Amino acid sequence: MYTKTLAALLGGLSLALAQTSSEQTPSAPEIAAARATIKPYSPVSNVQGKSFNRFVNIWLENTDYDVAASEKHLAKLAKKGLTLTNMWAVTHPSEPNYCASQGGDTFGMDNDDFNQIPANVSTIADMFDTKNISWGEYQEHSPYPGYQGFRYPTSGDNDYVRKHNPAILYNSVTEDATRLRQIKNFTDFYEDLRTHRLPQYSFVTPNMTNDGHDTDISFSGTWTWEFLIDLLDNEYFTKDTLILLTFDENDTYELGNKIFSFLLGGAVPQHLLGKEDDTFYTHYSIISSLSANFGIPGLGRWDCGANLLSFLAEKVGYTNYEVDTSNLYLNVSYNGPMAAGEYSQKTYEWPIPATEGQCSGGHGILDIVKKTYANLTATHDYSSPVPFDVETGNSVGVEYSRRLKGGKREKYVTGSGKTGNDTSACKSS
Ligand SMILES: *[C@@H]1O[C@H](CO)[C@@H](O)[C@H](O)[C@H]1NC(C)=O
Ligand SMILES: *[C@@H]1O[C@H](CO)[C@@H](O)[C@H](O)[C@H]1NC(C)=O
Ligand SMILES: *[C@@H]1O[C@H](CO)[C@@H](O)[C@H](O)[C@H]1NC(C)=O
Ligand SMILES: *[C@@H]1O[C@H](CO)[C@@H](O)[C@H](O)[C@H]1NC(C)=O
Ligand SMILES: *[C@@H]1O[C@H](CO)[C@@H](O)[C@H](O)[C@H]1NC(C)=O
Ligand SMILES: *[C@@H]1O[C@H](CO)[C@@H](O)[C@H](O)[C@H]1NC(C)=O
Ligand SMILES: *[C@@H]1O[C@H](CO)[C@@H](O)[C@H](O)[C@H]1NC(C)=O
Ligand SMILES: *[C@@H]1O[C@H](CO)[C@@H](O)[C@H](O)[C@H]1NC(C)=O
Repeated sequence: MYTKTLAALLGGLSLALAQTSSEQTPSAPEIAAARATIKPYSPVSNVQGKSFNRFVNIWLENTDYDVAASEKHLAKLAKKGLTLTNMWAVTHPSEPNYCASQGGDTFGMDNDDFNQIPANVSTIADMFDTKNISWGEYQEHSPYPGYQGFRYPTSGDNDYVRKHNPAILYNSVTEDATRLRQIKNFTDFYEDLRTHRLPQYSFVTPNMTNDGHDTDISFSGTWTWEFLIDLLDNEYFTKDTLILLTFDENDTYELGNKIFSFLLGGAVPQHLLGKEDDTFYTHYSIISSLSANFGIPGLGRWDCGANLLSFLAEKVGYTNYEVDTSNLYLNVSYNGPMAAGEYSQKTYEWPIPATEGQCSGGHGILDIVKKTYANLTATHDYSSPVPFDVETGNSVGVEYSRRLKGGKREKYVTGSGKTGNDTSACKSS
């Protein structure tokens, strides 16, 4: 029997156990048994957001900005929406970027291993639960809801892989049987589409063929076109929906980690269709934008200071930062507990999030985060729009600024502790 799943089914018990090898690579009978019993869960909600009511986050793999931007299908799709020309991945390789999209940090992860984040780390699932906003994942060819194996099939060509499944990396998700059932596959996606049970937030991972990992951008661009083109005409799917097509990371590690991205769907403001947005964004900007859009507190991690999607920022009266990216790479993780020594050093301290401050466009920090980390000092300055860490000098010394209401420019440098108001900028503006 698939013990972890059974235990979870028996009431979402909190198991602080590492997964056994059988759970990492379950046997065929174990998979068959779970498949026969575990049913997908598709909660429905309709919480009105400021700029969108549904967010669909679709990730392709490992492509440099210019290469993706010139692929013909992606270029044609981008023209139907808003191109984000200054969106950045946060590190290499794949898994820490997926991890970042869910928990607001990489925790120093520098590898694609069987990583598990402790249950005292919150994710966007906790954010959504404060207002019962439905969420889910669609992982192509995951054999059943909440599958926790390292890959599927367990041998042969790559198809479903755990490293591209962000929610499953977090014990606060896997220790909850209901949450596990919200991690579904593409069969369930089409069923939820047909029955009008799509969640308000979803993360979509095509398999290793379709996302370009084992093929190329022409293959993944064609897949994207075929996946989206009918959906864009489906009124139920597209109404008040924001679809983000992005990449986990850029392909050339020595260059800055900027990734080609665009927004589509009925929630993209009409006057921005076919346009470009050069606001500085990272994967963390999506978490802060979800906070600001739905009016829910954030995680107090790198989502805290991350810029909001510009049209949303405008709507909620938030001033985004401008970032000087000329010396920015975001191509390596800081030293942390999830490092395996591939590019970063392992440390055993779990980073402490912020527990106070006006994070995420003014919506503050989740109560559970404040309670768990009460009276502890935040590891980093999470009010910065640029993730950095002082200890290893990763992305330290990057300048950013924003113009205050009176016209003065507030200037900062990551990691230096130096901030200041430039009055000359005030005079010249
Ligand atoms: C969320 O759902 C639970 C269970 O149905 C309910 O008890 C709770 O009041 C709901 N919370 C909100 C904010 O709607
Ligand atoms: C997807 O998951 C469902 C259960 O939710 C399962 O019945 C189906 O066989 C799975 N599809 C694939 C292609 O594995
Ligand atoms: C990936 O999915 C497609 C269907 O979308 C399928 O044809 C292909 O065989 C899958 N790749 C692998 C390696 O299983
Ligand atoms: C990050 O980029 C810098 C500058 O090109 C390069 O020296 C370094 O090797 C890169 N790091 C990794 C992990 O590739
Ligand atoms: C990756 O992003 C950087 C930063 O903007 C960009 O200069 C570079 O062109 C991208 N890499 C490649 C090889 O396209
Ligand atoms: C969170 O869990 C980790 C791993 O069990 C532990 O090392 C850390 O001390 C915990 N943090 C807090 C604030 O309880
Ligand atoms: C945090 O500090 C406050 C006041 O100093 C104290 O009342 C509270 O018990 C502390 N909380 C924890 C979890 O240590
Ligand atoms: C800059 O000045 C404004 C208004 O005087 C103030 O609110 C803000 O805290 C200052 N910022 C910094 C970084 O000193």
